[in-house]
Amino acid sequence: MYIPEEKISEILNTSDIVDIVSESVILKKSGRNFFGLCPFHSEKTPSFSVNADKQIFHCFGCSAGGNALSFVMKYHGISFLEAVRMLARKYNIVIETELIDPVRRKEVLVKESLFRLNKRVMVFYAGFLSDRSRGGGARSYLEKRGVTTDIIEKFNLGVSRDVWDAAVNFLKKEKVTRTIAVNSGLILSRKQDNGYYDRFRNRLMFPIFDINMQVAGFGGRVMDDSMPKYMNSPETPVYSKSKILYGLHAAKQYCRREGVVYIVEGYFDFLSLYQHGIKNTVASLGTALTQEHVRILKGYASKMVLVFDSDDAGINAAKRSIQIFMKEGVDTRILVLPGKNDPDSFVMKHGQASFLSLAAEAKTIMQFLLELAIDTHGLSVEGRIKVLDEMKLHLALIHDSALRSLYVRELSETLNIDEKAVLEKVRDAFVQNNTKKSPLMPEDHDKHLVSDPRERQILSIMLNYPKLIPEMVKRDVVSYFYSERFQGIAKKIIATELDKDGFVTNVMAKIDDNKDQELIASLAMDDFSGDEDMAQTTHVLMNRIIKIRKKNENILTTKIISAEKGCDADVTELLKQKQQEIQQLHDGQQL
Ligand code: CTP
Ligand code: MN
Repeated sequence: MYIPEEKISEILNTSDIVDIVSESVILKKSGRNFFGLCPFHSEKTPSFSVNADKQIFHCFGCSAGGNALSFVMKYHGISFLEAVRMLARKYNIVIETELIDPVRRKEVLVKESLFRLNKRVMVFYAGFLSDRSRGGGARSYLEKRGVTTDIIEKFNLGVSRDVWDAAVNFLKKEKVTRTIAVNSGLILSRKQDNGYYDRFRNRLMFPIFDINMQVAGFGGRVMDDSMPKYMNSPETPVYSKSKILYGLHAAKQYCRREGVVYIVEGYFDFLSLYQHGIKNTVASLGTALTQEHVRILKGYASKMVLVFDSDDAGINAAKRSIQIFMKEGVDTRILVLPGKNDPDSFVMKHGQASFLSLAAEAKTIMQFLLELAIDTHGLSVEGRIKVLDEMKLHLALIHDSALRSLYVRELSETLNIDEKAVLEKVRDAFVQNNTKKSPLMPEDHDKHLVSDPRERQILSIMLNYPKLIPEMVKRDVVSYFYSERFQGIAKKIIATELDKDGFVTNVMAKIDDNKDQELIASLAMDDFSGDEDMAQTTHVLMNRIIKIRKKNENILTTKIISAEKGCDADVTELLKQKQQEIQQLHDGQQL
């Protein structure tokens, strides 16, 4: 950690997690905790809780958890250091920059400068658009496309001038360093000399905001038929197209409210839907949707509607995206617009109500794929076999067995093929899928999710009744833990000063590991309200932990000794193995 623990504690003790979480989650007080819909997984009933005394959050649904810093990191997808600086800025805490590791410090400073620069450039481009003489052409283009002034202002649209050096000169005038200027992607270096020229010229400019309303990059569209029609910022330290969704900064509250998000492809598709009151919309900006996109959206809506043009490109785009949605297990609908429409032209012509009624009838992924396959292969005998062979591959991707069997039935009915035969095909495909995979990834097989419930309880009591810690130290119960992970955490808890305020907060400040933070948050949320005599409970727990460990070890040692005496080498070896296995079991056992 590059920032001293005391500084982290200061930030955590000054900030208020309820305040911070409320910026992005609607919280209601219930008992000692606040509850809301978890931003990290889709849910309809709130299982995400925030505890103001302990300054922690914990989701009983997906077990995300931690303190204010981990919330900010996870929610905004930023690094620890960025989160620290964000909260420090918010609560006016000074962090002496020399405390920060120089490499990381440089990264953070570059990002901050880029955001600042992009914002100024956004204002610069918007200035041309509202300029009486310079912005005329662009304004009439927007007017022709039906975009209102409200939308132009709300989304800070602008225009870049038809010259090679407007941005270059602007950056010079603003005394932007060369590193930042080049990193911004706004200018490009000239081949013939060591000068630079503007990337965006004579284009309608769309600033692309990240979820924190910071300007991450730009998109630019020509206002005639020249090519390329669109140009976007390149990947920069603040702009990554696999993570950013256009419009999410404005749409997020509406996505939450409706529980649905419409995913469209283009800037104008987004703007037109928004203008027509369909504000729970984001645009993927023509790139293929990534798993990261879907994960981000899951924090805002449990149902996603992919809206595509009905041309081949649209259908192909839909097919490409589908696997990701299936893997993420989101309720996904496919809306293919009729005629030659894209969402923009459709809603401009037919209005909000028509769009919404089509959307209400959008097909499920399986319906969509099935109809597509039937369109391609027909319903002759051979056709139906081909359809089945295509569909089994899709069905094999569904991990929920109940859902899979529903689709199997639907498929067997539609194709008029015996359900058992369909099931068999799907099963084969499923088995093939899952044997191809490498052995379980460490993620799946999380060895962190240990272990002996009693050890867990001891940790929980430490956090909730720190007064009992001295007694635990006296008995040295921690040294009897089987789980090394729990031992490590317990030692950090013991090392935390008892009589200072914010005990849990200060423990958290010592923990770097994300999984350990989640664990501590969940332990600290434990409810002991039924238990009157905590000291007695602890006493009993400690006795058991110590006794069991001693007993297990005695039995084994005795056996090893007697086997050695009897010169039974095989048995000795076996017993020693057993001893090791037990140790491993306790270190790596799953819940
Ligand atoms: N796009 C892009 N680069 C291109 C073409 C498209 O980045 N060369 C992205 C843009 O974000 C665009 C979206 O893909 O908004 C959709 O592109 P397209 O289907 O070509 O949109 P159109 O409806 O044809 O464009 P417009 O509505 O602006 O006329
Ligand atoms: Mn369009």
